[in-house]
Amino acid sequence: MEKDMESLKEKFHKKIASIKDREELQRIRNEYIGRKGIVAQMLKNITLLSSEEKPRVGELLNRIKRDFQKAIAEKDREFLTEKPVEEKIDITIPGKDFMLGTIHPIELILKATEDIFLGMGFCIVDGPEVELDYYNFEALNIPKDHPARDDQDSFYITPDILLRTQTSPMQVRIMENQPPPVRIISAGKCYRRDSIDNTHTPMFHQIEGLAVDKDISMADLKGVIIEFCKQIFGKDRITRFRPGYFPFVEPGVEVDVSCGLCKGKGCQSCGYSGWLEIMGAGMVHPHVLEMAGYNAQKYTGFAFGMGAERIAMLKYGINDIRLFFENDLRFLTQFK
Ligand code: PHE
Repeated sequence: MEKDMESLKEKFHKKIASIKDREELQRIRNEYIGRKGIVAQMLKNITLLSSEEKPRVGELLNRIKRDFQKAIAEKDREFLTEKPVEEKIDITIPGKDFMLGTIHPIELILKATEDIFLGMGFCIVDGPEVELDYYNFEALNIPKDHPARDDQDSFYITPDILLRTQTSPMQVRIMENQPPPVRIISAGKCYRRDSIDNTHTPMFHQIEGLAVDKDISMADLKGVIIEFCKQIFGKDRITRFRPGYFPFVEPGVEVDVSCGLCKGKGCQSCGYSGWLEIMGAGMVHPHVLEMAGYNAQKYTGFAFGMGAERIAMLKYGINDIRLFFENDLRFLTQFK
C-alpha cells in the first residue's frame, strides 16, 4: 500500500508539471482529490485494514492529500499571473504619438524676468487684479481729478473698485505690509479700456519692481535696469534713460534699449530712432512713501514697470500684439 502511495505521488507530480491550462488542472484536481477521486477512494478502503494499520495509513493519505492540494493551488496561481499569449504587450509596436505643449511666450518672459531679478536679490509677490481705486490711483499720487487717470481709462466694478490698470498698486500694498528694506517683483494682468490694434489689447501683462532702503539712489536704479536689459536682450544692447513723468516717482524716467535689428542706426522697426522704449521708472515719490507709512526722511527707493508683451515683441521680433491672444498653435509652438 505504501508503495502504491509513492507511485501515486510520483504520477501526480509528473502530471501537474506538464499541465498547460486551468481546465486540465481542474480535471486532475477531480481525479486525485475530488469527492470521488483516487485519494477519497483510498481513504474509504482504510476500513479494510487492520486496526493497527488504520491510523498510520490514514495519516499518510491525509498528508498526501494536503501535498496535492498545495501543488494544485500553486499551479493555479501560476496560471492567474501568466497572461494569455494574445494579451501580452507587443513591444515592437511603435508608441502612440502625443503633442507636447509649449510655454506661452508671455509666460516665458515673465519667468525669465523673475529669474533675473531673483538673481539680484528681489522676491516675487502676487497682487489682486480686482483692485481698490485707492491703491490703483489715490495712494500713487493720482487723486480723483488728476489727468493721469485719463490715460488709463478703466473697467470699473463700483466707483471705488476697478480692474487694476497697472501693477504699481503692489508698491503700496507691500510697503503697507512690511517695514523697509523691500526688494520685490510683481507680475500679472492689467486692464485698460484700449481699442484693439497691433500694439494695444484691453488686457496685458505688467512687471513691477520696487526697492526701498536707506541710501538708495538713481545709480542703483540704473545699475539694476541696465543689468536686466543685458540679461534679457543680450550683452550688446545699450540702455538709455530719458526724463519721463509718472505721478508716483520723482524724478521719473523712460527707459529705452538700442534697436537689435539696426544696432541703433535707425530702421523701420524702431521708427528710425535707433531706440525702443521698454519701461517707465523713477525714484519713489516721498509722498507715496509717507502715505504707505514709511519715513521718507530716512528711506528712499526706486520703482519700475514694464509691459511683458512689449518685452516679448522686442525680444522675439513680433509685430502684432494680437498674436499672443489668438491662440494659433502655428504661432505658439515656435516658443520652446
Ligand atoms: N505703472 C506705470 C505705467 O503703467 C509704469 C511705472 C512703474 C512707472 C513704476 C514708474 C514706476 O505706465
